[in-house]
Amino acid sequence: MSVVILGVFVADTAYRAARPPRMGETILGESFALGPGGKGSNQAVAAACAGAETHFVSRLGRDPFGEMALKTWEKAGVRPAISFQEEGYTGAAYIFIEAATGNNAIIVCPGVAGEIGPDDVEAQAALIGGAAVFVTQLEQPIPAALRALEIARAGAALTVLNPAPAAPLPAGMLALCDFVTPNESEAEALTGIAVRSVADAEAAARALRKAGAGAAIVTLGAEGALFHDGARTAHIPAFDAGPVVETTGAGDAFTGAFAARLSEGADPLEAARFGCAAASISVTRAGTAPAMPSRAEIDALVARG
Ligand code: RIB
Repeated sequence: MSVVILGVFVADTAYRAARPPRMGETILGESFALGPGGKGSNQAVAAACAGAETHFVSRLGRDPFGEMALKTWEKAGVRPAISFQEEGYTGAAYIFIEAATGNNAIIVCPGVAGEIGPDDVEAQAALIGGAAVFVTQLEQPIPAALRALEIARAGAALTVLNPAPAAPLPAGMLALCDFVTPNESEAEALTGIAVRSVADAEAAARALRKAGAGAAIVTLGAEGALFHDGARTAHIPAFDAGPVVETTGAGDAFTGAFAARLSEGADPLEAARFGCAAASISVTRAGTAPAMPSRAEIDALVARG
């Protein structure tokens, strides 16, 4: 049973510094790293590392960042369902990492993946409709995500939307989602409810269900996640996997590992706990895709509790 993910690959350019520069200012940073990123690609790597047969639908340019993408997927065991665009570039992200906390702020330019449309998705309809779990985010244009969710729904797939970066959704889009996995700010953007506590997250999750989602899992950083599927509400605490190095990609670790466990037929609440364990490990490492844990590491942390 496979996980199919539609999304974007970009090269992450990560700058670690005490604080971000002000407009017109230059500051010295502590370190720089270049590595694979993009929410959809990170989620595909996370799902594959967690043990799922994983396919990734996207578009690349013919350039060094596109080659980085192919190498990343080969190493992780992700199966690419990719089209290449001759004109334009594979995207990149500017990531500011606050040295004291590992927290981040991001600008992402999706490049040619920003031109993915419903036709690209139609070309992969058999793959998407035949998945056990289909996952997408909002870094590629929304019409492509919407059409892919429709195709997945018409097939046998469970559907997961990671609504990141936050954007207004067309009417009816949430009703195509069995699960939505926003973080605090994305939940607020979708519901108008400021999420500053577990209780706020529950209120937002209830609002997302009212808007049509089957279940909502609001990721809460160091506080773990709030799961609500109508019948059950549960706060899943984060796991203690060691000191936090970088939080970038933690939401992707959660969504990818959650999808992998769901594809095995796991109970969604148990799959969410598995996702939280994956995210808790990912924040102890630098980078995004390179920080995704193996199945053995996640299982060991879940068993330890
Ligand atoms: O979720 C983290 C990711 O968001 C980074 O890898 C960056 O590329 C942006 O897309």
